[in-house]
Amino acid sequence: MTSEAKLSKDDITVVFILGGPGSGKGTQCAKLVEDFGFVHLSAGDLLREEQQRPGSEVGEMIQNYIKEGKIVPMEVTIGLLEKAMIDNDSNRFLIDGFPRKVDQAMAFEKEIVESSLIIYLECSEEVMQMRLLKRGETSGRIDDNVETIKKRFKTFIESSYPVVEYFRKFDKVHTIPCEDSIDEVYAKVKPIITELFKQKEQK
Ligand code: C5P
Ligand code: MG
Repeated sequence: MTSEAKLSKDDITVVFILGGPGSGKGTQCAKLVEDFGFVHLSAGDLLREEQQRPGSEVGEMIQNYIKEGKIVPMEVTIGLLEKAMIDNDSNRFLIDGFPRKVDQAMAFEKEIVESSLIIYLECSEEVMQMRLLKRGETSGRIDDNVETIKKRFKTFIESSYPVVEYFRKFDKVHTIPCEDSIDEVYAKVKPIITELFKQKEQK
């Protein structure tokens, strides 16, 4: 990893947005970008871009993992995130859909930068499935279908929810129920980030 040289860790704010598939991570991030000038990095989007990049050595592997709702080995994902952080040259990053596994959380915070806080969007599987199937009508995503959605839920429960519990130990998690409308959810998300930057300014 080359992070030490390229990213000055001291003044970087990293916020992780976690939640099951279809919980609205990307949607809430778009609103936070408008209000707080974050660079938004979606781990899933970065993986899909790499999968489609001509000549990618890991493209086929990524496709297989996504199709099966499994988690791509963290070397790949952390490498893509680190590159995107260096390329974007910002000190505010909103990272969605990552970490998806406790080992990813520990490796990222050790090698790249520590997160300031975690927003966990809590949602029932019924609502998430409904949203994903709706999105699947137009998304063209190979994983927005009933069969893969079931696998994604299983992966979330087994591997990704433990990340939320891991961060709870450090008192970093803000849990937001997210079955309401986009604006109602955002009304609960926004004050958390406002407070974060207020506290940072006071330091
Ligand atoms: O977050 P999103 O729903 O876009 O992720 C789609 C898929 O990308 C996941 O189901 C998983 O296969 C893969 N992914 C991953 N590791 C991450 C984020 C996404 O393997 N940290
Ligand atoms: Mg997304």
